Amino acid sequence: MDTYRRLCTEYYDLSKPQAPPDAVDFYLRLFPASQGPALEPMCGSGRFLIPFLERGIDIDGVDGSPHMLDACHRRCRDKGLEPVLYQQLIEELDLSRGYDFVLIPAGSFGLIIDRAAAAEALRRLHRHILPGGRLILQIETPFAAPPDLGRWHQGRLPRPDGSELVFNALPTYDPAEQLQHDTHRYEVVRDGLVVQSEVEYLSIRFYRPDEFRRMLEDAGFTDIRVSAASRDDPPNDQDPTVVFRCRAVGDCRCISPERGPLTSSPLNVADASPVRLP
Ligand SMILES: C[S@@+](CC[C@H](N)C(=O)[O-])C[C@H]1O[C@@H](n2cnc3c(N)ncnc32)[C@H](O)[C@@H]1O
Repeated sequence: MDTYRRLCTEYYDLSKPQAPPDAVDFYLRLFPASQGPALEPMCGSGRFLIPFLERGIDIDGVDGSPHMLDACHRRCRDKGLEPVLYQQLIEELDLSRGYDFVLIPAGSFGLIIDRAAAAEALRRLHRHILPGGRLILQIETPFAAPPDLGRWHQGRLPRPDGSELVFNALPTYDPAEQLQHDTHRYEVVRDGLVVQSEVEYLSIRFYRPDEFRRMLEDAGFTDIRVSAASRDDPPNDQDPTVVFRCRAVGDCRCISPERGPLTSSPLNVADASPVRLP
C-alpha cells in the first residue's frame, strides 16, 4: 500500500487516539453477548478493535498497512491485549476462520476506490461470514464531500521528542465519479527544519445508499438495513454517513469459527518484534 505509511500512521494516532465513544457504544450494542468470533477488516491502529478486546470479545483484525498494524500491535501490547492481526487487502481477503460478526466502521470501505475491487471485497467478506452472521459497515455518501475544496488545510501536533508533525491536505472532489482525491503532505519539523517528510495521494469513494444496497445484494447479502450513523433511525436523504447491517446466508468457505490451519500468518502481539508478512 502507498497510503497509511509511517508519518500518516503517527499523525492518525496523535490526532485520533480513541474512537468516538458514541460510535463504539453503537457498534458494541450491535454485538450480542452470545455471538461468536468477530473480525474488523481495515482495523488500522485499533481504536475500534481495542474497546472490543477490552470487553473480552474474540475479535481479529485485518489491515493492508504494516505501519497501522505495527501501531495496533504496540497499542494492544501496552494494554496487555493479544489480538490476532493479519496484513491483507480485503479485496484479497483469505483467512481460514469464519466469523459471526464483521465490522467496518469509520467509512474505511470507501478507500477501495476501484469498483471491481470493492465488489470483490464484499464477496470476500461474505465468504468469511458464518451462516446467519452479520456485516456492519459504515459508508460515506456524497454529502460527506468536504466544503473547502481546492485549498490547503493544515494541522500541527507536538511529538513526544519536542519536534512537530505538520500535516497539509489538499482535497478535490469529482462529483460525477463520487470520488474525493486528496494530496497529503506530512512533515516532521525540528528547530525550524523539515527532517522527515511523506507525501500520499489518497482517494475515497462515496456511495449513495441505494447504490451500495445493490452492491451488497450482488455480493449475496440479505436482510439489508440502513440507518443513520451511530443511531437506529433511518437516514435522511442528506446524511453524510450511513450504516448498513446485513446478513450472509451461507457460502462461508471457512466452515468453522475455530482458527484452523492458517492461510496467512497472523501478527500476534505476543511476538516481541513486529513481524513483516509477505
Ligand atoms: C481511516 S483508517 C481506519 C482505521 C480504523 N478502523 C479506525 O477507525 O481507526 C482506514 C484503514 O484502512 C486500511 N486500508 C485501506 N485500504 C485497505 C484495503 N484495501 N485493504 C485493507 N486495509 C485497507 C488502511 O491501512 C487504514 O488502516
